[in-house]
Amino acid sequence: MKLNPHVTKLALFDIVNTPGVAADLSHINTPAKVTGHKGADQLGDALTGADIVIIPAGVPRKPGMTRDDLFNTNANIVKTLAEGAAKHSPKAFVCVIANPVNSTVPIVAEVFKKHNVFDPKRLFGVTTLDVVRASTFVTDIKGGDPARNKVTVVGGHSGVTILPLLSQTEHKFTQEELEALTKRIQFGGDEVVKAKDGLGSATLSMAQAGARFANALIKACKGDKTVVEPTYVKSDVVPGLEYFASNVELSEEGVGKIHPLGTLSQYEQKLLEAAIPELKSNIAKGVNFVKGN
Ligand code: NAD
Ligand code: LMR
Repeated sequence: MKLNPHVTKLALFDIVNTPGVAADLSHINTPAKVTGHKGADQLGDALTGADIVIIPAGVPRKPGMTRDDLFNTNANIVKTLAEGAAKHSPKAFVCVIANPVNSTVPIVAEVFKKHNVFDPKRLFGVTTLDVVRASTFVTDIKGGDPARNKVTVVGGHSGVTILPLLSQTEHKFTQEELEALTKRIQFGGDEVVKAKDGLGSATLSMAQAGARFANALIKACKGDKTVVEPTYVKSDVVPGLEYFASNVELSEEGVGKIHPLGTLSQYEQKLLEAAIPELKSNIAKGVNFVKGN
């Protein structure tokens, strides 16, 4: 975000290390003024005046864990940060990276509802990395320029809830290719978790994907009417699922038109059917966490 010349202020919040990271980032010669805020009593200062709040705080996976296994630790972290945002920056766009995204987005929504400041157009789960990976993995098989290999990925952000709509690309795949690619896109995060061998999950590709999403929001706020990004938002694209990721037109208000799924192949229809119960339970878990606390 420090590289985006439209950013005027970049406030970093963490429970450790922010003074050092802020000093380091502040030397990059772009306009954003960087401030570092450490610990709960500085959360308000970090959030006050923010137009965009990006939440990547929380523990990452270790090999063998699912994203849902992070819920017990990260739900509380996200809830606390959402409470801060509801009080100090209630009109900001909130972009949630912390996992499990399928549940942490409903957590933020419920906290904002409790504070009477919820605007569904301003809350986003960041699923951009799934789309970034899909484009890379398709290019690995079909070649060409990854930037032109665009794949619509819908659903949620974990395992079988990640639904790449490969039938809507310009490529023809054999069933074997389809199944292998779909699995790779659904479990791309696990490749990194396994390779890091206990030292965390994707950080560099996530930084690129997170910045791509936030930069897209900034572009839309500057009046660009052509910005479409995948994101997990309050949606009625799939009946019965309150939140769902799909391509969304971004605008000054945040969520603009949510694109419908389009035509699904039989194989994709089956993937969707498999995703629905898991998404439903992930969403309920997030909602109930706030309602019960
Ligand atoms: P990390 O351990 O490198 O960094 C997490 C940071 O959160 C640490 O600096 C830690 O001090 C901070 N933190 C902990 N408690 C906090 C609190 N109460 N308030 C503020 N900050 C706090 O982990 P990471 O690799 O950056 O991953 C962070 C989260 O992002 C994880 O939940 C991970 O699963 C998720 N993630 C999501 C995606 C995605 O596509 N949405 C991709 C990558 C990672
Ligand atoms: C990812 O997709 O890389 C992230 O959600 C982190 C993870 O746990 O895999």
